[in-house]
Amino acid sequence: MEYSERIKRLPKQFFASLVNKVNQAIEEGRDIINLGQGNPDQPTPSHIVKALQQAAENPQNHKYSLFRGMPELKAAAAEFYYRQYGVEIDPMTEVAILFGTKTGLVELPMCLLNEGERMLLPDPGYPDYLSGTALANVQYETFPLKAENHYLPDYEAIPSKHLQSAKLMYLNYPNNPTGAAANREFFEKTVQFAKKHQIAIVHDFAYGAIGFDGKKPVSFLEAEGAKGIGVEMYTLSKTYNMAGWRVGFAVGNPDMIEAVNLIQDHLYCSLFPAIQEAAIAAMTGDQSCVTELVSRYESRRNAFIKACREIGWNVESPTGSFFAWLPIPNGFTSESFADYLLEKADVAVAAGNGFGRHGEGYVRVGLLVDEDRLQEAVNRIAKLNLFSSAAVEK
Ligand SMILES: Cc1ncc(COP(=O)(O)O)c(C=O)c1O
Repeated sequence: MEYSERIKRLPKQFFASLVNKVNQAIEEGRDIINLGQGNPDQPTPSHIVKALQQAAENPQNHKYSLFRGMPELKAAAAEFYYRQYGVEIDPMTEVAILFGTKTGLVELPMCLLNEGERMLLPDPGYPDYLSGTALANVQYETFPLKAENHYLPDYEAIPSKHLQSAKLMYLNYPNNPTGAAANREFFEKTVQFAKKHQIAIVHDFAYGAIGFDGKKPVSFLEAEGAKGIGVEMYTLSKTYNMAGWRVGFAVGNPDMIEAVNLIQDHLYCSLFPAIQEAAIAAMTGDQSCVTELVSRYESRRNAFIKACREIGWNVESPTGSFFAWLPIPNGFTSESFADYLLEKADVAVAAGNGFGRHGEGYVRVGLLVDEDRLQEAVNRIAKLNLFSSAAVEK
């Protein structure tokens, strides 16, 4: 069967080959410590599961949902934003319910750009952003996120020809894969930049709950004027360990929200209503499960970074998300180092070049196993004698 050009344009799923390698090693009976993926390891809090169980019993919830989702869920999202970030949202015009934020991130280029138009994407960045450019058949330019800029973009360094032709830009803080955070000042600068160059902003706030050292992540919408030029994507996948449930939402600029709602009117008729009820329970219920989760990730981060430094691996401590971004030793590429760790230490990590050209020289570790296993992973790596202070590049 001959596929359409649209399907042929889709990027190769870089991490599919990692998953295959890991699965093969597990099938061989090896005890693999898998730090390569971004799948939360803890269960969804039981009060949310119970809310689903109850809601699933209600025959009303077995019918089609309203196309654009339950008004009560939109109201819960708006209240949540006010409570968490002090941002006022109109639930009817400024919220779009999504099947996980991945869907919205992939849909937005189709909503806002014509074929051949251009968007700006971070490098390194979340690989699924590229899927949206391929489906919409739009061009993209990347801007580098560098360690010396704390993995924030340097707007002055983006070539003016890219700025003139770009209509849409994606940002993501706390950042996957680098673990870097952004502050309000940065988002204020972003709003000025976006207005000056007439570029719509999408801030992917997937790790919006996960900030360390007492610093809560900042919402893009906290910046003055942000709603005039952009939207933020919020997911329940990480905050409440609900990755399999597929619940997210976009909030912010009413025109962008309406565009997402319009495309979704044709693609879906919203989520299973019982899941929507459970999502309401998650956002309006007791938030101590979130505090506990963040402190669990923080303890893991502390244990892992300490262990790495003890073996001479000169790594930076992430300030948010559940990822650590680690420079590789001399003599390797990101991919050869990831392969080496899998082969020799039975430790799976994600090669940095899978996130873009500027990810070369790094590997990403997900802090998604308990502290003992993280320590065990570092112990195994220590036995390879790769690190002395002179062996580490960055
Ligand atoms: C940066 C980033 N954005 C978006 C997503 C997608 O999340 P969701 O489960 O809401 O589709 C992920 C998931 O790993 C992510 O890391």
